[in-house]
Amino acid sequence: MTKTRKTPEELRSHRWFGASDLRSFGHRSRIKQLGHAPEDYAGKPVIAIVNTWSGLAHCHGHFPARVEAIRRGVLQAGGFPVEIPVMALPENFVKPTTMLYRNLLAMEVEESLRSLPVDGAVLMGGCDKTTPATIMGAISAGLPAIFMPAGPMLRGDWGGRILGSGSDVWKYWDEKRAGNISEAQWEDMESGIARSDGVCMTMGTAMTMTSLAEVLGLTLPGATSIPAPDSRHARMAAATGRRIVEMVWDDVTPADLLSQASFENAIVASAALAGSTNAIIHLIAMARRAGIELDLDRFDALSAGVPVLANIRPSGQYLMEDFYYAGGLPAFLTRIADRLDLATRTVNGMTLGDNIAGATVWNDDVIRPLDNPVSRAEGLAVLRGNLAPGGCVMKPSAAEPRLLKHEGPALVFDDYDAMAKAVADPDLDVTADHVLVLRNAGPQGGPGMPEWGMLPIPVKLLRQGVRDMLRISDARMSGTSYGACVLHVAPESFVGGPLALIRTGDVIAIDVAARRIDVRLSDEELARRRAAWTTPPPRFPRGYGAIFAAHIGQADTGCDFDVLARPGTIAEPEIH
Ligand code: FES
Repeated sequence: MTKTRKTPEELRSHRWFGASDLRSFGHRSRIKQLGHAPEDYAGKPVIAIVNTWSGLAHCHGHFPARVEAIRRGVLQAGGFPVEIPVMALPENFVKPTTMLYRNLLAMEVEESLRSLPVDGAVLMGGCDKTTPATIMGAISAGLPAIFMPAGPMLRGDWGGRILGSGSDVWKYWDEKRAGNISEAQWEDMESGIARSDGVCMTMGTAMTMTSLAEVLGLTLPGATSIPAPDSRHARMAAATGRRIVEMVWDDVTPADLLSQASFENAIVASAALAGSTNAIIHLIAMARRAGIELDLDRFDALSAGVPVLANIRPSGQYLMEDFYYAGGLPAFLTRIADRLDLATRTVNGMTLGDNIAGATVWNDDVIRPLDNPVSRAEGLAVLRGNLAPGGCVMKPSAAEPRLLKHEGPALVFDDYDAMAKAVADPDLDVTADHVLVLRNAGPQGGPGMPEWGMLPIPVKLLRQGVRDMLRISDARMSGTSYGACVLHVAPESFVGGPLALIRTGDVIAIDVAARRIDVRLSDEELARRRAAWTTPPPRFPRGYGAIFAAHIGQADTGCDFDVLARPGTIAEPEIH
């Protein structure tokens, strides 16, 4: 449907500022109270700069400066910029997990945009949940919106050795536990691993989700890969500010850009990037907000046969800074163009195909050609069986091949602390063939589905040289993690999923090629155990947690709240 360009009187904000009545008097007098004359705002698109900054937002330290760049761009294009601070979700600091709050941030963005006199929004995000949350909120608000990605931080450095966020922490932590790294060396790493503004520079959840936001057409082309401290990042922010003003006049909303095809492009791109498994949950949630159904099996089907071409840790060797110098996301997408629908629309009014046309790969080792992939192993597998009737996921490319078809006795833990204590015990009764199981780590049980899925290898096995073993949980896993970790088991154990019924010593069998995961128990035995199982007491007696528990969905449906997951926008507020 072609939309006609808006007139100033058709701007949403005109309803607040343009009328000649008692309420408009109040609105105009109050915008004047903020020091703004009619020359600033009258007849101009009001642009909300939705800022996920706080003094603890470790990955968004540059956002105050970027707000000024966006503001400059909005003013240049004839708009009226206003900063709207929203909840920051700094991944490392928020406990028990930022995932508990993704939907709260999404609600805050949606309701802020709906309730205030704004015509369009720049969404500033990057650190893990801030990307899906702000986009989910903007989809539901239904106003023109553009995403400004935070950009990756610079490479980490430890005495000349390059460090990657997360991935190298896990790697060297295992070496420290095995006695191969000293306390002083560990402290040196701590000082050098996060040495600039920006998000984790491995292909973790942040870079996966911001890259997919670009594939979905929600950022300016090429915006995502620019390192946060690079001056090109500030110029991109200003250009984003200029663009949103035009999007308001042309009434380009997320619903105009998002489609089944754009989400399928994102799934394919995620597979070729070896993106975070968290993207599955977030893409399903975002799609459902837009009225598009994506199920787990679609991820499996679309990811099949897609080679990993981004040579980025944890699946590869390099970091996002290298990826940017190698051509960044547009160049990367040229390598998988045959698998993409290039006709999908993007924020700049062009198609995805237009935006990547002519992009050049400058380094074939960082962005691999199809005939020399980083890995031909699958980046994603969706498994089902009597242990996960609703499905679960794993990253075969990140696991030791011997574990892709495996049977072993379960070693079951009911909570994280018990598991952490046990794996530190040098005398733990465990072998490399055991299957570590952690339950009560899902959306309800975690609560909030923490990133506990890469269960630590028991120290006894580390000392024997074991670096991977089969691990199963209803938790998520950081995108920077790796190993034979089966995640997102649905339904989760806390609500009585089969994971709740297994006991230490039960034999678990996985066959990734057959997409199966089962516990070797008869239906009768499972039914007997189910009859004896009792629902655990609620995690939260009151507050936001109680609302969360009442409305949160399972992993296979995106962990959105049931009352938010419905597509469509709600009516504009009355102005009285
Ligand atoms: Fe912010 Fe990794 S901690 S992106």
